[in-house]
Parts: sequence; structure tokens; C-alpha cells
Amino acid sequence: MTARDAGPWWRSRREALLSVLGDRECAYVYHLPTIASQVRALRTMKSIARILYALKANPHPEVLRAVSAAGCGFECVSRAEIERVFEALPDIPRDRILFTPNFAPQAEYRWALEAGIRVTVDNLFVLRRWAALFSGREILLRLDATSGHGHHEKVRTGGLNSKFGVPPEEFGDLADAVAGCGARVVGLHAHGGSGNFGLDGWLEPARILAATAAAFPEARILNLGGGLGIPDRPSQAPVDLAALDAGLAALQAARPSFELWLEPGRFLVADAGVLLARVTQTKGKGDKRYVGVATGMNSLIRPALYGAWHEIVNLSRLDEAATATCTVVGPICESGDELGRDRPLPRCEEGDVLLIAQAGAYGHAMASHYNLRAPAPELVVSA
Ligand code: LLP
Repeated sequence: MTARDAGPWWRSRREALLSVLGDRECAYVYHLPTIASQVRALRTMKSIARILYALKANPHPEVLRAVSAAGCGFECVSRAEIERVFEALPDIPRDRILFTPNFAPQAEYRWALEAGIRVTVDNLFVLRRWAALFSGREILLRLDATSGHGHHEKVRTGGLNSKFGVPPEEFGDLADAVAGCGARVVGLHAHGGSGNFGLDGWLEPARILAATAAAFPEARILNLGGGLGIPDRPSQAPVDLAALDAGLAALQAARPSFELWLEPGRFLVADAGVLLARVTQTKGKGDKRYVGVATGMNSLIRPALYGAWHEIVNLSRLDEAATATCTVVGPICESGDELGRDRPLPRCEEGDVLLIAQAGAYGHAMASHYNLRAPAPELVVSA
């Protein structure tokens, strides 16, 4: 059971949320128990030996401590993300961190390898040109082993139109390049995209990785990436974790020497976060109605960037029936500054608090200071 099966946590916490917001105009609020229950849901998959949290989704220190306490390691994409993990969890063993850079400068690889952190390499160039970095080091190889999947073309990381992974036509060159630099390949990796629901998004690369691993006798880890989707509308079915587990268990039964890893971001934190923002102004234009709130795409860019759909309610009037269809906009100087289009809402008065749901993943993490408007601050609740 995932956190959402019981209904979103925030529905029963209206007063607590309004009180934690205080007199602020806007804030992200993260609910730590939801993160723990999402980890528990993934742990029901017996085929998965290790879960690494992809902290690009939400690197807040309390979030990192919560996922670590629930037993996860970390997948980092930059030196700064690794340093964030060290700041939040100073005693963390190095082998609970995996560094998966992409087109990063050589110095970042050097720093991580010298710090004893495993690096995932996704380009022959890196092994051939920077060979001296890798002698005796444990690495994973990221293969472009999927055709790509996800909720939007900008988040598909597999296939010809994406910059990630060693392309299939180069798989055969990898063993020579590895031998040339003296690296020890302990695992293979594939990540096809983000916000995926179809099981083939993991089962297919798992088969390709397992077959390719034959060329690397020390390879034990098959890291199947992240990408687990989170239903945003009630009509959408969640990823069938039991069926995925069964498919992976079958693969593993045939090749018991492998351990399977997952590195989810969104799945662990999306539902745990909400964005609260006070109504600033309302406006009618033709037959459109606008509700303005105190922050917009500077805090949450997903609707503008991907057309992402986030449920929006008027938390101040949670039990009132909808009376109008409104487009919820922020104060940013772009017509794309929408948080939700044509949403049924009850009356909205200046000062009311709107809640934008499922904002715990890729919300604050992607925020900006555009228009010199600071993004919503982050608050954490433990119950
Ligand atoms: N592993 C790798 C190598 C990744 O590139 C990513 C995400 C993940 C794991 C975690 O994926 P997740 O489980 O969160 O889907 N900003 C977009 C999502 C971009 C994902 C980038 N890579 C969004 O807001 O939907």
C-alpha cells in the first residue's frame, strides 16, 4: 500500500497546515511520514536489493535524513549533491552513494573517485580520454538500453533523441575501453525516463543489462534506474509493483548472481510535499476567471515546463463546493506562469490559502529567482 491509498495526507491536516504556514504568503510543506511509507511500499518488492534515492527530486536535508533512516542510499548527479548528502548525514558510508554524472567536467569525476565514491560512466570518451582516473576504481556503466519513457518528451532519457547512456552500437567497445583504463565494472545501469507506469520500462532494460553483463565478470549490480510514476488523477492506476517484482524475480531466478537496484526520486517524495500559496487577486477576462497566488513558476515550474497537472484546492474552504472554473496563476511576468488551468474551485478571497498537491518532487528543487522573486520557503512536518 502506498501513502496515497488512504487518501492524501494533507486532507486531514487542514488546520495544522494553515498554522504551520503562519502569516507567510507561501511555503512548501513536506510530510516526512509519507516519505517513510513510500519507502515501505517499495520495500515490498523482494527482488530489489537496494534503493538509492535520486535526490535531484528533493535535496532538503530533512528529506535526506528521512530516506536514509528508512534504509535508502543516494544517487547523486553533481558534486554539490554529494556534498549535500555529507552535510545532512556526516557519517554515511561512501558505498551508500552513487554518482551518476552526465557531460560533467573531468574534475568532478576525479573528486568523486578520489573520495571513494562509485561513479556511473555513460560515455566511452570518459574511459578513453580520462583513463588515468579509473585505474582500480569500481564503476558502473550506463547503457542506453531503453527506447525511453516518461510523462513528457523532456524527461525521456533513453533512445536516439536523448544525450544519456552508451549507445547500443558501442556496447561491444566497452570491454576494451574498460580494460584500457583498468576500471573494475561492478554493475550496469539504465534509466529510461521519469513518470513511467509500464513495466517494460524496467523489465526490458533489465534483460539487456543482464545479457551485456556477460562481458564484465565482476558485474553484480543491475541498477534499473528510477522513473516510477505517481498517479496524479484519481482515474490513473499506480505502477503495479507486485507485477514488476514478479517479472524481476523471474529474471533474477534465471541469473541469481545479480542484485537489482532501483533509484527512484519522484516515487518517494512527490506525494509528501504540497505548495501553499495565498490568493493575491482575482480577475475575469471574457469568460475566463483567474485566481492569482503569491508564487508561481518561480516556485513550481512543472506545469509551465511540462504541462504537468497538480491537483489544486482552496485549503481555506476545503469543504465548500466549486462555484467556478478558474486558472490559477502566479505573479511572474510570463503568460506561461500558470499552476493549473480551468480548475473547479470554490469562491477564492484575497488571503485564502490554495494548496497545490504532489509538489514534493521537482518542485523546490527546480525553483528559481526569476523576476527576483524568492521561491517559496520549505517547511517540514513530522506527523
Ligand atoms: N536516476 C537517474 C539517472 C535520473 O536521471 C533520474 C531522474 C532518476 C534516477 C529519478 O527519476 P524519478 O524516479 O524521479 O522519475 N524534472 C522532471 C523529472 C526529471 C527526472 C530527471 N532524472 C519532472 O519534474 O517531472
